[in-house]
Amino acid sequence: MTKRNIISVLDMKDDMPQLVELAAKLKAERGNHGEPLKGKTLAMIFEKPSTRTRISFHVAMSELGGTPVYIASNEMQMGHGETVEDTARVMSKFVHGIMYRALDYKVMDRIGEIATVPVISGLDNLEHPCQALADMLTIKEKLGSFKGKKLVYVGDGNNVCNSLLYACAIMGMDMIACCPAVRMPNAEILLEATRVANTNGSSILVSHEPGEACKGADVLYTDTWISMGDDTSIEMATKIFHMYQINSKLLSIAKPDCIVMHCLPCHRGQEITNEVIEGPQSVVFDQAENRLHAQKAILYALLK
Ligand code: CP
Ligand code: NVA
Repeated sequence: MTKRNIISVLDMKDDMPQLVELAAKLKAERGNHGEPLKGKTLAMIFEKPSTRTRISFHVAMSELGGTPVYIASNEMQMGHGETVEDTARVMSKFVHGIMYRALDYKVMDRIGEIATVPVISGLDNLEHPCQALADMLTIKEKLGSFKGKKLVYVGDGNNVCNSLLYACAIMGMDMIACCPAVRMPNAEILLEATRVANTNGSSILVSHEPGEACKGADVLYTDTWISMGDDTSIEMATKIFHMYQINSKLLSIAKPDCIVMHCLPCHRGQEITNEVIEGPQSVVFDQAENRLHAQKAILYALLK
């Protein structure tokens, strides 16, 4: 790995294709890895709930021979007066890596600066890099390649969308972020992803028209209309996003073999219909499984 931390997908800019390959190799080993992380400990701090990230990091660390230590942030001194900086310094004395799910990306960045061991983002309000790596592994498995393939993200321009912009740009895949004007992806990330895509011969576009954007798509991707920490009411979200639902009608204008992705947890009847998520084009549970294999690749690359 070129970088010590994975806080943004951009930290994997020079390594993402190799990380996807490593994840595929580790997946093929089916848990028999020979304990490459024996003697290594990973602290896992969560300021927001998690099912997939928490369990997949725990199992990944165990299957690589290392030890995961889970800490709920509200049980730490950090929430009770101890500074972020002191916490990062002390933890660096105990563990070989820190996996952190943060409410605020600025706190994530600060821990990344101060800690002397690798810091891995398990999501913050700006990005979800580990999800994006698992998504690229899933796309590689299902489509075979990235070049010339088109991913359309439909819905909220949130952390998952931001990380996908970088990941598609790095892997040379075309992406359209199809979001309402009031919920566009982060402007700086959009700009930088466009620049990276240009150097890799792919395109990053934005749209407000799902009916246009999804034409000829190889991948339709969506995520919740209301992310953790967002206080938008469901009534308001429904007003903003009602056109931005992946349903059979929208899927019918994509390529006939288009796959449907969602990072989960999903809200059936909101951003995606039950029919589509349970339908033959949905790959969401293989995608969820790949969190485990992607996590292993990240842990191996940073901690070995
Ligand atoms: N996709 C994802 O990160 O899920 P969790 O919130 O359950 O970890
Ligand atoms: N955008 C969602 C992703 C959850 C995995 C959130 O931040 O809540």
